[in-house]
Amino acid sequence: MATIAPSSLELNQKRFNEDAATWDSNKKHVESVEKAFEAIKRNIPAFGDGSSKNLDVLEIGCGTGLLSFLLAPHVRSLVGVDTSDGMLAAFNSKVAALPDPSKANLAAVNVLVQEADDVHVQGAAAALASRRGETGHDQPYRFDLVVSHLTLHHIPSMPAVFATMYQCLRSGGWIALTDYEDFGPDAIAFHPMDKREGVERHGLKKEELEMIIDGTGFNEIRVEKAFVLRKEVEAEGGKPAEERDFPFLISIGQRS
Ligand SMILES: C[S@@+](CC[C@H](N)C(=O)[O-])C[C@H]1O[C@@H](n2cnc3c(N)ncnc32)[C@H](O)[C@@H]1O
Repeated sequence: MATIAPSSLELNQKRFNEDAATWDSNKKHVESVEKAFEAIKRNIPAFGDGSSKNLDVLEIGCGTGLLSFLLAPHVRSLVGVDTSDGMLAAFNSKVAALPDPSKANLAAVNVLVQEADDVHVQGAAAALASRRGETGHDQPYRFDLVVSHLTLHHIPSMPAVFATMYQCLRSGGWIALTDYEDFGPDAIAFHPMDKREGVERHGLKKEELEMIIDGTGFNEIRVEKAFVLRKEVEAEGGKPAEERDFPFLISIGQRS
């Protein structure tokens, strides 16, 4: 009988469900998120001019919420989406541990976002809006900022996800997306060998990102080196286990 190979989505769900419980105890996960947070603050004007508390944020691939919980105190609301129940359970247990979870300005849902009017995203945005006392919202919810950290390299179609992000934004809204760079064949070492299944691409290419973001219709496009993460890689191909530097890109664009 023919066997059907699992899709990259299924492989990612299995992997991240397994990794969820220990995700936040990995110091390199925390360090990369802290560096991404600083890069977002440097690049998005609202964090520099004091207006970030007006921002409604959508995060693609929020995982356990490492970035979400750093951003939430600085913005009006944050809706996270992720495709792993395990990662979302970790996110939700952090929400439950807040002093008053019923007033939290962040929430996460299990969605493979493919359209801005997705019912789960709309439901989460509406719930957060009603918590802050908004009533009578008759338009679909849109966001001022879309963020995503270490997730684009797992997503099969980059043009499709950028088109969805564009639709999810209000006019004038921004994307600020961080992920590691494909700087050549050695970028593959970012993931240990047993974590490579389900990885769509071993890092992102600056020129490819610029082309896709431009083709999607964004303005104010910048794809720049944002920071470096130094981390241990395992011995492979005759090279010893050692610490190496992995450059990260931040991709910026604004919807007109
Ligand atoms: C490397 S983890 C990063 C998690 C989090 N951003 C962080 O930095 O801690 C990638 C996350 O993306 C999620 N993911 C993978 N493909 C996705 C997709 N198509 N849509 C939404 N989330 C996805 C995974 O479940 C996982 O939680």
